[in-house]
Amino acid sequence: MDLNQTISHEHEFSYCRADFNKVAQLIYECAGIRLNDSKQQMVYSRLARRLRVLKLRSFAQYLHLLEQDPDSAEWQPFINALTTNLTSFFREAYHFEILAQQMQTSRARPFRIWCAAASTGEEPYSLAMTAMEAYQTAQPAVEILASDLDTQVLATAAQGVYTVDKLEQMTLARKRGFFLKGTAMNGGKARVKPGLRALLQFQQINLLDSTWPLQGQFDAIFCRNVMIYFDQATQKIILQKMGRLLKPDGQLYVGHSENLHFISEYFTSCGKTTYRLTERAIREWGVG
Ligand SMILES: C[S@@+](CC[C@H](N)C(=O)[O-])C[C@H]1O[C@@H](n2cnc3c(N)ncnc32)[C@H](O)[C@@H]1O
Repeated sequence: MDLNQTISHEHEFSYCRADFNKVAQLIYECAGIRLNDSKQQMVYSRLARRLRVLKLRSFAQYLHLLEQDPDSAEWQPFINALTTNLTSFFREAYHFEILAQQMQTSRARPFRIWCAAASTGEEPYSLAMTAMEAYQTAQPAVEILASDLDTQVLATAAQGVYTVDKLEQMTLARKRGFFLKGTAMNGGKARVKPGLRALLQFQQINLLDSTWPLQGQFDAIFCRNVMIYFDQATQKIILQKMGRLLKPDGQLYVGHSENLHFISEYFTSCGKTTYRLTERAIREWGVG
C-alpha cells in the first residue's frame, strides 16, 4: 500500500493515505473511536474546516501541530470534528416507557440518571420529560447528569434551543408542556422550559478516561449509540466501570444495535436493550 498515495486530486489541501491513518490512530487513542477506510472522505471534509481556520496547507502540517504538543488547544476541535452526533427526541421510544416504569416502581429519591453520550441534548431532555410525566409533577425528585466528550454538542445541549423541525415527531402536549416557542428573531426555534432545564447538569466526560469525575451511584445509565464506535475490548472496560456505578436494582440502557451478550457474566437483559447487574456483578463489585 502506498502511504503517500493522494486520496483525491480534487482536494483543496494535500491529503494522503498516511494522513488518514494518522488521524485514525490519534482519534482511536484519545476517544476510542474506530474509523474504518470508508471514512476517508468524511475525515477530509470535517478536518478541512480546521485547516482553513488555522490557515494551513496540508494535513501533514495539521497533524504535526497536534502531535508536537499534547496540550495543544487544537485537540478539542479535532475531537469535536470527528465525533458523530446524530440524535433525536425520544429516539428508540420504548426505552422511555421502560424508564417510566422503573421510576414508578423505584423508591429512590432523588432518582439519579447518567446520560453518558448526551450529544446535543435531545436524549437527556427526553429523560427529563419522561420524569415529569412519570411522577406527574413539574418538580420531580430526579437528577440527570448529561455528559459527552464533544464540548460543542454539550454547549448546544446546555442552551436547550432547537429548530422546530426537531420537535415534529413529538405530541402536541409535550411541545406545549415542555417548550417555549421563539418569536421575532427566534422564530422557527423552541427553547426548553426552565423547569426542564433545571433537572439537568452538563459535564464533559471522556468514556475512555481511566477515571470519571462522578460521585455516587445511579438508578439508570443511558449509554446509547456510542459503544458502536468502540472495539469490544474498550467496550468491556467501559461497561465494567459503568456497572460499578449502577445501584443493585439500577438499569443500563444501550442502543438498538448494541448488546451486552459478550459480558453476560455481569449484565443480564431485562427488556429491549436494557440490562441489570447479575448477582455475580453485585457480589464481585460490592455495589450498593
Ligand atoms: C451518535 S451520538 C448518540 C447520542 C445519543 N446517545 C443517542 O442515542 O441519540 C454519539 C455520541 O457519543 C459521543 N462520544 C463519542 N466518543 C465518546 C467518548 N469517548 N466519550 C464520551 N462520549 C463520546 C459523541 O460525541 C456523540 O455525541
